[in-house]
Amino acid sequence: MKSMQRVCMTALVLLVAAGTVFAGGSQARGAGKGLIGVVMPTRSEERWIKDGNAVKEGLEKLGYAVDLQYSDDDIPTQSRQIDDMITKGVKVLVIASIDGSALSNQLANAAAAKIPVISYDRLLMQSSNVDYYVSFDNYKVGGQMGDILITGLKLDQATAATPVIVELFAGSPDDNNSVGFYQGAMDKLKPYFDKGALKVPSGQIDRTVIGTLRWDAAEAQKRMENLLSAYYSGDVVLNGILSPYDPISLSCLEACKAVGYGSAPGKPLPVVGGQDCIVASVKSILAGEQYATVLKDTRTLGAATVTLVDTLMQGKTPTGLDTKSYHNGAKIVPSLLLDSVIVTKDNVQKDVIDTGYHTRAELGL
Ligand code: GAL
Repeated sequence: MKSMQRVCMTALVLLVAAGTVFAGGSQARGAGKGLIGVVMPTRSEERWIKDGNAVKEGLEKLGYAVDLQYSDDDIPTQSRQIDDMITKGVKVLVIASIDGSALSNQLANAAAAKIPVISYDRLLMQSSNVDYYVSFDNYKVGGQMGDILITGLKLDQATAATPVIVELFAGSPDDNNSVGFYQGAMDKLKPYFDKGALKVPSGQIDRTVIGTLRWDAAEAQKRMENLLSAYYSGDVVLNGILSPYDPISLSCLEACKAVGYGSAPGKPLPVVGGQDCIVASVKSILAGEQYATVLKDTRTLGAATVTLVDTLMQGKTPTGLDTKSYHNGAKIVPSLLLDSVIVTKDNVQKDVIDTGYHTRAELGL
């Protein structure tokens, strides 16, 4: 009897130990309700850290284990991370790509392993192995970028005799969002271009010419410096800049300041919008430099993604999706498109601070 008890105890200890090992290795093998793989492009941009945290915390609250990986904007690293997650047996993949068209092999592997793929914020392109897209309405976001310039530059008062002078920047050419942002903004600005009330002295208007690879703010700053020295050395004054991303807005403002904007007579800082509502831009808005930004609440995006993952994990079919707007070159990807908000000095308190998106302390207030 004694020895029987000892055998049972030993078995129990082994089981507990095995359980401990299993739980400890939950990143690798899945725990609770299952392991979810989440890949984000880079830790060097504030928003993706917020995105990653929102998705991870939300999923963990529901009892899922999460393998969250960042890849420093390096495509081979991101591909490897996804391959590893498939090998580990993740149940769902949430992917914010670097280059939307570079992951077709990984997506095919996921499909072969019957792992649903959610394209996060950026649409995965040229593959039929993408199941859902969760993002904001990127065309509307672009429209808001256009509206920022229309209001900030009082374009309704401009005429061909007194045109407003702007330069244009677009996002990364390998990110499908850049298309929506550009198209949405240009459709708003078109009437002003058409009547000669808005002018681009460099003539650089086409999206392929004004793109900023990997949304690199340093590259944008260089381009702004070149534009200023090539087209604004005389008495032409730049009034506004179309910018699709806050770090690009801030570096364009730096380039302008370096040649006297904001300090020399007759050269106020140009009106610049942006996107992502990063802390540095909100500070700049409060300081009266950057004019506005578009807030895409990463908490809402994260929560929508968590709900979608949970729905799929329960074997249910998500409902209420947009099945018209997003064709990725291979198929229409059913999409959940959220709303974004323009933020100027006037609504920082209401839409940024009161909602807890950034605290007063973060904003140095
Ligand atoms: C885009 C995204 C923007 C911005 C940009 C740079 O895909 O829609 O909000 O974050 O990437 O990271």
